[in-house]
Amino acid sequence: MISVPEILKRKEKYPLTMVTCYDHWSAKLLNATDVDLLLVGDSLVMVMYGADDTTQATMDMMVQHTRAVRKGAPNKFIVADMPFMSFRKSLETSIDNATALIQAGANAVKLEGAQGNLELVERLSSSGIPVMGHLGLTPQFIHNFGGFKVQGKSEAAKNQISKDAVALERAGAFSLVLECIPQSLASEVRSQLSIPTIGIGAGLDCDGQVLVLHDLLGFTSGKKPRFVREFCQGRGLVHESVQQFQQAVLDKNFPSSEETYE
Ligand code: KIV
Repeated sequence: MISVPEILKRKEKYPLTMVTCYDHWSAKLLNATDVDLLLVGDSLVMVMYGADDTTQATMDMMVQHTRAVRKGAPNKFIVADMPFMSFRKSLETSIDNATALIQAGANAVKLEGAQGNLELVERLSSSGIPVMGHLGLTPQFIHNFGGFKVQGKSEAAKNQISKDAVALERAGAFSLVLECIPQSLASEVRSQLSIPTIGIGAGLDCDGQVLVLHDLLGFTSGKKPRFVREFCQGRGLVHESVQQFQQAVLDKNFPSSEETYE
């Protein structure tokens, strides 16, 4: 399993890879790959539960899914998202929530935004809970943004993201996700930091890339965001396989004698 010091060193070497992972069976598959980090993202509430946005994720969900992923992927560094408002009520509750994710099997927690979180990031990272930051299109702020839109376009927004990135590193974050920002801004932020940046819709100049597993496998239907590449035709493969099962049953071709107990 990759460690925090190794993650930090990778900035000078070759890109980090991270994919989302929400359940036991996909964790087992991913455990056998070379991917560096698994993210139990709060996007699970959209992908697994059909919610419209990530504000519907709860601590209970994140803990259950983190536990399932850890069981399936004993060799992977797991980052678990702190869900909406779970790190905003009080320092004590936030620390308890981060502790619950670590005790469920995560190696680190990820939290969105910098303003209002710096004291928590400092407390967690100095207490043995590595923190990954997340700036740019932070989906828990969907109601402020008015939708899933590219961030960091205006001069003021660019400056704020740069300032927040530096503040998160100073507070002790060991890495930073940059989501849906222009490549030029991601490049500028990267050059200001000694911790690695991991991009999603932030261009090639990040120190790593992350994608939602279901997007990269081609399981997601509907409009594909510009930054998603489908490395597999998942929807088609599933459809075809289930249709084959359907036909085999109708044809009395399944189960065969080899698939039947005497
Ligand atoms: O929850 C998630 O899937 C994420 C990624 C988009 C980085 O935070």
